[in-house]
Amino acid sequence: MASLLLVSLLAPVALAGSPKTCSNPQLSCQNTTSVSDLCCFNAPGGQILQTQFWDTNPSTGPSNSWTIHGLWPDHCDGTYDSNCDSSRAYTNITQILQSYGKTDLLAYMNEYWLDENGDNESFWEHEWGKHGTCISTFKPSCYTGYTSTEEVPDFFQKTVDIFKTLDTYTATNAGIVPSSSKTYTASQIQAAFVNDFGYSVSIQCASGALDEVWYSFDVRGSIQTGTFVPTEPVGSTSSCSSSGIKYLPKSGSPTPTTTTTGGGSSPTGSGGSFSGSGYLNAVTSGSQKGCLISAGTWYTSGTCATYTATVSGVTATVFTASNGFLSYGGKTTFYAAGVPSGSTQQAVSTTSKSVSVSFEWQSV
Ligand SMILES: *[C@@H]1O[C@H](CO)[C@@H](O)[C@H](O)[C@H]1NC(C)=O
Ligand SMILES: *[C@@H]1O[C@H](CO)[C@@H](O)[C@H](O)[C@H]1NC(C)=O
Ligand SMILES: *[C@@H]1O[C@H](CO)[C@@H](O)[C@H](O)[C@H]1NC(C)=O
Repeated sequence: MASLLLVSLLAPVALAGSPKTCSNPQLSCQNTTSVSDLCCFNAPGGQILQTQFWDTNPSTGPSNSWTIHGLWPDHCDGTYDSNCDSSRAYTNITQILQSYGKTDLLAYMNEYWLDENGDNESFWEHEWGKHGTCISTFKPSCYTGYTSTEEVPDFFQKTVDIFKTLDTYTATNAGIVPSSSKTYTASQIQAAFVNDFGYSVSIQCASGALDEVWYSFDVRGSIQTGTFVPTEPVGSTSSCSSSGIKYLPKSGSPTPTTTTTGGGSSPTGSGGSFSGSGYLNAVTSGSQKGCLISAGTWYTSGTCATYTATVSGVTATVFTASNGFLSYGGKTTFYAAGVPSGSTQQAVSTTSKSVSVSFEWQSV
């Protein structure tokens, strides 16, 4: 496995300062007098929305999960500011996250924070520039020892963390399930959210079908370190009709961008193999455990290597891609003497050993 893939290790992780400590912070949108420290209190964008998509045309993301739209600081009356700081409208979100060692976060975002047209980076730039720059507690002056761009990993990490607590697909499972024929009333849908989240949500429809959900929070303290308190939405609560709402199934998993490479064809060819750059994530017993950090070495902690899918002086028939997995002689199972842990690394080979492992390509 040594020489098929060119390996370039990521740059060292950037050092960051830290968000200011908040003592006795107030709950946003619930203050009765003016609050001056906007590093510990979100204003004017005090109503924080975690917004999610259910895209079916085209389908994006896993068929059993909603995907992330963003984290929006709405005013307490539902109006909002946008594009608040052009000097921090970064156009290198992926590189910034990599520079802070956020490779797991990036891998998660490439699975659950997706652009309908596949341009995830542009979509993340849009969400950060339009909404993120309006969050008062992310201002550089809200950090002790601020290093340029360090609020960016905080924004994306927090959005993902909140998203992970809001499993819409499962929340609505009690009776509200995707169907190509069934329809629901808005009150049936809201009842499912009240039951699970405690409050109603803002539901959005396109062509009569549910395609977005916006959850509302007030936050006690900063977005970075504060507590998110669920609340009733203020402002637009629905763009759906009151009845006849469709909740269409996604069309299975998204079409894999990588398929089996025929013998001899280039792995970057359009016929399909890995292309661009990515990680090779280790999958064993059905769950992801670490990744290949250099040719033939498997590691479960630390930073994944970024591979560039280019042949380097080896016949392309040896290592290919099969349904997104690294493949050798048609087989995607490799072996190691054990599962690496801590700082241990394991050599990976094609001869049978006690642990089986596959390597799944993750574009970055
Ligand atoms: C809450 O604090 C914000 C920020 O200082 C202020 O603009 C707003 O008027 C305050 N709300 C009330 C009801 O005093
Ligand atoms: C990202 O872009 C900004 C300028 O917009 C620059 O200051 C920063 O160094 C870049 N970060 C990385 C990791 O490339
Ligand atoms: C971005 O999003 C699409 C889905 O919309 C996904 O299939 C693709 O792998 C992502 N792109 C990258 C470069 O990761």
